[in-house]
This record gives sequence, structure tokens and C-alpha cells, in this order.
Amino acid sequence: MSDNYFEMIGEANLRKLIHDFYVGIASDEILRPMYPMKLEPAEERLYLFMQQYLGGPRTYEEMRGHPQLRKRHFPFKVDEDARNRWMKHMNHAMDLNEMPNQARFFLQTYFEDTASFLKNF
Ligand code: HEM
Repeated sequence: MSDNYFEMIGEANLRKLIHDFYVGIASDEILRPMYPMKLEPAEERLYLFMQQYLGGPRTYEEMRGHPQLRKRHFPFKVDEDARNRWMKHMNHAMDLNEMPNQARFFLQTYFEDTASFLKNF
């Protein structure tokens, strides 16, 4: 099987995963206020970032340049609670969306590690 996780997951499933994650964010009393009033453009940024990270089209880079994720998260208080809330919504979204075990494991590890790396408080 190909190691291109974008192909393994597929565009429609990745879009649905990121959408389901944002449904969780919309309901989170701590995280929601950190996000812009309109969630759709933020959802699109995370989708495009993940599409690129997983080996798909590099539209994110064309629109946003280098990801610089730590720098882009400095304006927000990413403490242990925020990190765990973010992971809770992503884990829930992953539970709602079937994908090959290998892809699930890869995403789980990547999200856990990156969420810890982004803590700034
Ligand atoms: C640890 C808890 C996290 C919190 C509280 C958090 C919060 C936020 C907030 C408030 C934004 C601004 C929304 C926007 O306008 O785009 C944002 C952007 C973003 N976050 Fe996170 N985030 C977290 C973890 C992560 C993780 C683990 C990833 C990667 C897998 C990630 C990737 C991104 C990306 C790609 C953007 C858009 C950057 C841009 O192009 O401007 N975040 N995040």
C-alpha cells in the first residue's frame, strides 16, 4: 500500500474529519473564543495544512507560506487544558471517520506530538 497518507485517507474523508473536528471546537467554551468569529476559513486553513502535510497538493504553502506552527500559535494560550481539549475533539472526529489502521495510527501520533509541541504556557 502507498505511504501517501493523503491518498490513503482520500480528500473527502480528510475534509469530513477536519469538519467534524471544528464541530467540536464550535462547542468548546475554552477553545471557541480563541478562534475567529467565522470558523469556515479556519477550517479551510487546517484542511489545507493537513492535505499538504499528508503528501497531497501544496495549496497551503501557496496561500500561507511556511507553516511556522509554533509562531502562529503564540497569540493563543495553549496550556495543558487547551492541548487536551484540542486532542479530545480530534480524537472524537477520528472515531467518527473510518480509515485504515495505519493512517489512524499515523494521524494519532502526529496530532499528539504536535499538540504537545505547540504548548506555550
Ligand atoms: C494544542 C492545542 C491547539 C490550539 C488551542 C490551537 C488553536 C489554534 C487557533 C486558535 C488557531 C487560529 C485559527 C485560524 O484562524 O486559522 C489555530 C490555527 C492553526 N492551527 Fe492550531 N491549535 C492547536 C493545535 C494544533 C495542532 C496539533 C495542529 C496541527 C496538527 C494545528 C494546526 C493549525 C494550523 C495549520 C492553523 C492555521 C495556521 C495559519 O495558516 O494561519 N493546531 N490553532
